[in-house]
Amino acid sequence: MQNDLLTADAIYTKLHANLADIVPDVMLRRKAEAAAQIEVLKRQRNAIVLGHNYMEPSLFHSIPDYRGDSLELSRVAATTDADIIVFCGVRFMAETAKILNPSKTVLIPSSKAGCSLAESITAQDVRDLRAMYPGVPIVTYINTYADVKAECDICCTSGNAVAVVESLGSEQVIFLPDEFLARNVARETGKHIIFPVKGAGHGPDVGDTTLDVKMIGWRGRCEVHEQFNVRDIKQVRSQVPDVLVLSHPECSPDVVEASDYSGSTTAMIRYVEKNAGRKFLILTECSMADNILASAPEAEMLRMCSVRCPHMAEITVEDTLLALLKTQFVVDVPEDIRVRAYKSVERMLQIGHTGPKD
Ligand code: 13P
Ligand code: SF4
Repeated sequence: MQNDLLTADAIYTKLHANLADIVPDVMLRRKAEAAAQIEVLKRQRNAIVLGHNYMEPSLFHSIPDYRGDSLELSRVAATTDADIIVFCGVRFMAETAKILNPSKTVLIPSSKAGCSLAESITAQDVRDLRAMYPGVPIVTYINTYADVKAECDICCTSGNAVAVVESLGSEQVIFLPDEFLARNVARETGKHIIFPVKGAGHGPDVGDTTLDVKMIGWRGRCEVHEQFNVRDIKQVRSQVPDVLVLSHPECSPDVVEASDYSGSTTAMIRYVEKNAGRKFLILTECSMADNILASAPEAEMLRMCSVRCPHMAEITVEDTLLALLKTQFVVDVPEDIRVRAYKSVERMLQIGHTGPKD
């Protein structure tokens, strides 16, 4: 038997319970009306909505059937039997859903939801690196487009990057394209990292291709996480001595080292839930701090709300409604690229596991 459809009133009541202190009531009512229409369309069209942990609070707490980090949502996308997957996240995430489950229609509510890391590298860059370092396995962060994934040997997310690198059992590894994630993984796995001369931007490069090099990185950065610095952490700690500082591994190694904990977006949520009652500074997209409060209401959040991901912020409840009404924006991946990218993503999914939060 199917569950009863959620009405606008029921959705409003839930939103109000979680967000009354954060979002004005008039806005919650408006969001609840749109969310109720989405519920009808989901039922009519056999659609599911996946919501990344960075979605703004009124979306995060209303329409997703599953919420989670990149790894968790990939796992859901791979196994769903819905006909339509609406991905409330950024484009590389929606593409990954299509790569894993190509017979489904995958929609993204905004055509503008990109990612600075995904933009930082091309498929040709990866081919050049393979030619430069023949035989060295290539790990590509999931924050890349399908044609880049198609050129690599295995993908990883922030939740399994160390496990993926260790699974290769290789002396040398090429790790693309996030400079900071690569440095953080290199530190955790005890590898010495260099950056090839061709890697873009961000200061002097080291081009040594011999010596005891164990990890070869790229100069991509997340435009959000690169904004955090140790000076700010020290200042917050001097003002609030008992604060727990959490950082995403896309932050610089200095920031990660100055934090009490670093992990994927879901790993940070779990950490707060386990330490509820404490004060937290969470160095990641700022919506997440508000989203966590529903499951850890005793936690106290210090906010840096000027730091938002402009790409994630493109996704709204209203645009999700339009996506379902108009079947837009359809995410497609050319089949020859998809088949090769699938091998890298599927190989990653065989490693480690974290379950989705529904
Ligand atoms: P997670 O996989 O940890 O959710 O991270 C995705 C992301 O884009 C972080 O900026
Ligand atoms: Fe990309 Fe950074 Fe936004 Fe994540 S937060 S989607 S890595 S730009």
